[in-house]
Amino acid sequence: MLIHSASQLLTLAGGPQRGSELGRLGLIENGAVLIQDGKIVAVGESSDFKARYPDEETLDAAGRVVLPGFVDPHTHLLWAGDRAAEFEMRLQGKSYLEILAAGGGILSTVLATRAAPLNTLMDETRPRLQTMFEHGTTTAEAKTGYGLETETELRMLQALITLDAEHIMDLVLTFMGAHAIPPEYSDNSDSYTSKVCAEMLPAVKEWWQKQTSERGDVGLPFVDVFCETGAFDLAQSRRILETAASLGFPLKIHADEFDNLGGAVLAAELGAVSVDHLVATSAGDIAILGKSPTVAVALPCTPFGLAEKEYTPARDILEAGGLLAIATDLNPGTAWCESMQFAIALACRYMRLTPAEAIAAATINSAAAISRAHLVGSLEVGKQADMIILKVDDYRHLGYRFGSNLVERVIKKGVVYQV
Ligand code: NIG
Ligand code: FE
Repeated sequence: MLIHSASQLLTLAGGPQRGSELGRLGLIENGAVLIQDGKIVAVGESSDFKARYPDEETLDAAGRVVLPGFVDPHTHLLWAGDRAAEFEMRLQGKSYLEILAAGGGILSTVLATRAAPLNTLMDETRPRLQTMFEHGTTTAEAKTGYGLETETELRMLQALITLDAEHIMDLVLTFMGAHAIPPEYSDNSDSYTSKVCAEMLPAVKEWWQKQTSERGDVGLPFVDVFCETGAFDLAQSRRILETAASLGFPLKIHADEFDNLGGAVLAAELGAVSVDHLVATSAGDIAILGKSPTVAVALPCTPFGLAEKEYTPARDILEAGGLLAIATDLNPGTAWCESMQFAIALACRYMRLTPAEAIAAATINSAAAISRAHLVGSLEVGKQADMIILKVDDYRHLGYRFGSNLVERVIKKGVVYQV
């Protein structure tokens, strides 16, 4: 199939974009892209391509923007229940960490998720997946972490694997048994840390290998830790991540969402694929991160969702030469937001990114944040044919506009979906 007559075809070609390189869109005016068997086989100008490939089935982009599907590299999309009451409590003055310390917050979603059978979990999650897809996300990371016990964590992995198989969107999985200290261990976080290391990580590895021998997949899921006051301290985070690395898991970490415990430096030291949140990060930590291959993932929907004033210091990260991506952080507590378009709009305003920078951070760099930059995140020969056609003719409408959906069509592995 030949997609032609894009006012602007944003290829994002040339790999992940570090520091001041961010924002290289690889824009082709009157662009075209040729797809065969779900993959991109040629990228160029419509005038040449229509003559060169006269027999191809065509899709007329009709003067609109075509770009890679968004890659959302940080979500907690699978959960049961909601936290509308907690939102109201926060508006009345309680803080997120106070609510968590009182056994609410993440822990109230843990209770609901533990009580939910597999089918309920999947039924509640399907509409979120579909909303993400309709807003242009074609690949997303998805974490466990509302079980905090082996059985429920494995049920979450099972649900995610099943949803990945049934939905056209691709999911990349993360085990986050270290998302919070479960109520049974409220005064003994070291014992829970030991349990994650000695029981849960080996159980997840064994379970995963059994599943994947049937699915034909390669590679273990990511392992992520919430390194934060009231969750896991730096020493506990290190123990979990070092154990995970020794078992062969690739690493991620939630760091500096509220307090700087040193998680960003730990991520760089351990060679984590990404470090996410980075709001309370110090200048010294940013300098270290800027020289490391670890991707800095900013989650602007989270401070927005919590009505906080501080966002990720994106310009400092870029000045330090860092690799910056953005994600929604979709979760029931801080950011029930399925839309990468909204994350882009916030990143432009509160992280001072240009639309071009935010788009690169939401495509090729966010693919790098989940080790998928060789497959998705740009329109280049050999990559998966995952792209979106917008309703507009100028890419800067992404960022500029918010609160409505600018996506008209989503193309996933060469199959076209009308939104
Ligand atoms: O990334 N900070 C920890 N995890 C999520 C929030 C999860 C929740 O509140 O349910 C986050 O913001
Ligand atoms: Fe998160």
